[in-house]
Amino acid sequence: MKGEIEKSMGLERVQKILAKAGIASRREAERIILEGRVTVNGRIIQLGEKADPEKDHIKVDGKRLPRPEPKITLVLHKPRGYLSTVKDPKGRPTVMDLLGKIKWRLYPLGRLDFDAEGLLLLTNDGEIAYRLTHPKFSISRTYWVKIQGVPGEKKLELLKKGIQLEDGLAKAHSVHLLREREKNSWIQITLTEGRTHLVKRLFAAIGHPVLKLKRIEFGPIRLGNLPVGHFRFLTPEEQEQLRRLKAA
Ligand code: URA
Repeated sequence: MKGEIEKSMGLERVQKILAKAGIASRREAERIILEGRVTVNGRIIQLGEKADPEKDHIKVDGKRLPRPEPKITLVLHKPRGYLSTVKDPKGRPTVMDLLGKIKWRLYPLGRLDFDAEGLLLLTNDGEIAYRLTHPKFSISRTYWVKIQGVPGEKKLELLKKGIQLEDGLAKAHSVHLLREREKNSWIQITLTEGRTHLVKRLFAAIGHPVLKLKRIEFGPIRLGNLPVGHFRFLTPEEQEQLRRLKAA
């Protein structure tokens, strides 16, 4: 419990901070501390003491440690026609092209297909990436999907009961018909896993190919009215919600 609280406050053993900053190996860092060459906020520290690398002034031989990159998570409204990867060998547009002056190295969390749009999170925060993508957290992803034809109640029930796909059983957490037209319909579907093309494969399996796909929620994060192609930072409340996520 104490460890958890310290971690959420950003506290780490100073030898680990020095090693991460590339000052020395963990062993050497311990020696440097024992030699009394390390201060935190002006005070010489003992081996085993902890500090927050983002907030505390840590010095070795009087020289300030470079600040670590701040932890950043962005919510992007990915447009269709962009890849949710960092680079494309074929030179197609990627979501990185939409980040303007953002200078941190961020990574997309969970793919959205080239022809899909909607909520995509990008982060350099390993803890958030882990919590949002590891299957044990069963994070929900909600999509609005335009499909060919109008499925009856039985077909939607099938999605909830589970469908055997080539890589195993897949189940929707919830499915609702939002709007029906003569030749197509809009469905809201929530899944709790992120296998490749899962929404498209599920609807193909019940005979209603996907025409359009938009992700509107990822765990506690909502797309809201963020314009297409724009991004925003997580709010402090959203960051807190992500920290509180528990394994299923
Ligand atoms: N399911 C899909 O089929 N495509 C996506 O982009 C996301 C989920």
